[in-house]
Amino acid sequence: MKNKVSIIGGGMTGSTTAHWLAEREIADIVLVDIVEGMPQGKALDLQQAMPVIGKDVKITGSNDYDATSGSDIIVITAGLPRKPGMSRDDLLTANAEIVSKAAIETVKRSPDAIYVILTNPLDAMAYLTMKLTQLAPGRVIGQAGILDSARMRAFVAADVGVSVENVQCYVLGGHGDEMVPLTRHSNVAGTALRDVIPAERLEAIVNRTRKGGGEIVSLLKTGSAYYAPSAAVSQMVEAILKDKHLIVPASAYMRGEYGLQDIFFGVPVQLSQNGIEKIIVYDLDNEERQALKASADAVRQTIEALRNLVKI
Ligand SMILES: NC(=O)c1ccc[n+]([C@@H]2O[C@H](COP(=O)([O-])OP(=O)(O)OC[C@H]3O[C@@H](n4cnc5c(N)ncnc54)[C@H](O)[C@@H]3O)[C@@H](O)[C@H]2O)c1
Repeated sequence: MKNKVSIIGGGMTGSTTAHWLAEREIADIVLVDIVEGMPQGKALDLQQAMPVIGKDVKITGSNDYDATSGSDIIVITAGLPRKPGMSRDDLLTANAEIVSKAAIETVKRSPDAIYVILTNPLDAMAYLTMKLTQLAPGRVIGQAGILDSARMRAFVAADVGVSVENVQCYVLGGHGDEMVPLTRHSNVAGTALRDVIPAERLEAIVNRTRKGGGEIVSLLKTGSAYYAPSAAVSQMVEAILKDKHLIVPASAYMRGEYGLQDIFFGVPVQLSQNGIEKIIVYDLDNEERQALKASADAVRQTIEALRNLVKI
């Protein structure tokens, strides 16, 4: 198999990403972690599942970045997850150091790779990776929007009683509590959400979406969500490797789009073999613009805090 995807961080999201990707049979997979033996053990276990599911994928685990050489895609999931009561921004100091190392060590070995970032605080970690690797902006993408939109889609489908396939939702903005679920652009089989769900229930869905990550953190108590986040990463990886020109919400480097500059921010992007091929700019009303501005202000503050920690 000629494509190679390396996943840095073999914890819950990293190993589950390996699982989803192996099922898609689109690349050989390398799992890297600092914990000795863990990525090797998980890789071996997953490799032994391949005969059962009939997929010819090579899965390798390592504690050494050399194993990532020549990757087409690097996925960064290394870092601490939230604990109950923590915000994603509380992870900034610890994860900036971990992501810096992962970015620097991998880009030396895979200078042509496209990066998909998952580690939180997401928009700041994607920004850090782009600055440290000095890759073109479209080659570093943060995963947030597919997950946040999928949470909203799941809630809407359950509320209306239709297939999840009939529900399209678009959640934009930073990957924090100020994210912006765009109800006007979301629909059930072509009918606008507000015409399908009464206002009060729709508002409850929007609020639950915004706090969707926190809801799972408080239930799990020892970590954060991993099935849905890693499914989202594997959809992005597939879109890139298969050059699908798929439009999904994701965190991208802003160069004037939506009036924003020099931050990573959740917007609709088109994914192809070169990473982000295009940022799609929606026509927004006043209320939506205000909500995005508040979200962008929050992301900008986190990036400022990051600049005080790391020279970028
Ligand atoms: N963007 C999103 O939508 C989203 C969703 C879920 C989780 N996350 C974030 O993803 C990150 C990982 O979450 P998780 O649930 O997999 O956590 P986890 O604790 O299960 O796994 C993290 C792994 O990173 C490893 N690690 C730490 N330092 C490392 C280093 N220097 N090099 C290589 N590996 C290193 C740890 O050993 C651990 O195995 C967290 O920051 C979490 O907040 C983001």
